[in-house]
Amino acid sequence: MAEFEVPVLSIKNLNKQFGKGCLHCQDGESLVKNYCPICGTVYACRDVSFDVFPGEVLGIVGESGSGKSTLMQCLYFDQEVSAGEAYLADYHHGERNLFQESSQQQRYIRNHIMGKVYQNPLMGLKMNFSSIGNIAEKLIAAGSHHVGMMENRGMELLNKVNIPVHRRKEAPKNFSGGMQQRVQIAKALSNRPPLLLLDEVTTGLDLSVQASVLDLIKSLQRELNISIVLVSHDLGVIRMLADRTLVMLEGKVIEQGLTDQILEDPQHQYTQQLVHSLL
Ligand SMILES: Nc1ncnc2c1ncn2[C@@H]1O[C@H](COP(=O)(O)OP(=O)(O)O)[C@@H](O)[C@H]1O
Ligand SMILES: [Mg+2]
Ligand SMILES: [Zn+2]
Repeated sequence: MAEFEVPVLSIKNLNKQFGKGCLHCQDGESLVKNYCPICGTVYACRDVSFDVFPGEVLGIVGESGSGKSTLMQCLYFDQEVSAGEAYLADYHHGERNLFQESSQQQRYIRNHIMGKVYQNPLMGLKMNFSSIGNIAEKLIAAGSHHVGMMENRGMELLNKVNIPVHRRKEAPKNFSGGMQQRVQIAKALSNRPPLLLLDEVTTGLDLSVQASVLDLIKSLQRELNISIVLVSHDLGVIRMLADRTLVMLEGKVIEQGLTDQILEDPQHQYTQQLVHSLL
């Protein structure tokens, strides 16, 4: 990757705490891991910085509670950050801190420049709407209004994620877990975003279903050359898809590099443990 390449997404010093903090934890003194036992504040993301480059899959791995989902929620404006900056190449040429934009502008960014797939399909889909209706919802949010065009685009997308087009009118609640994730992926891709956020998309699925969804993501990524941030607690998932990887522990990025390098020569003790458990 060329050093002068412009990142699609750039995150600088992102912090997210749940709670007000107190005199004891504000300088880190009383913290137990990322938690202050005196005032109960959780420091879920601590000074997280990274870039995502065009067409790359950036993996984020870490144990449960390490702050991965909070980070993704902040990136998608589902949560307000406590501090930090985010820049998108496709938004004012990467010159405006997204976190300082109005909620209306943030909605625009979310609808036009990003797609997100949640671990829990209930978060990403209306279970009683038709599948194609779920896709149309995102298209409408991104400014579409031509019904015929949305219908065509919806069918094209369902086809892309291997959902039989004749099932387009069925609601996701009738679908298996793997199919629900496929519908979420179709929806997230519908507005042709340059950036896709995937939070534990295969967690909880049967291994064979997990593999087929990961294969789908891989082939879509190649076809569309989209940039992806892929979050998982499972280094096996990250290994399958991520070009580069960040390792999070207790809200901090403790290690980052090419995925192959991290797998071959992990530096941090925690990463060594993760890699070891994969073998
Ligand atoms: N809404 C919330 N209120 C309070 N604490 C939260 C909230 N959401 C997450 N946390 C805490 O933030 C930390 C990071 O959680 P999370 O981002 O879900 O981790 P991960 O996705 O890596 O498992 C955890 O300690 C969690 O309990
Ligand atoms: Mg999570
Ligand atoms: Zn405190």
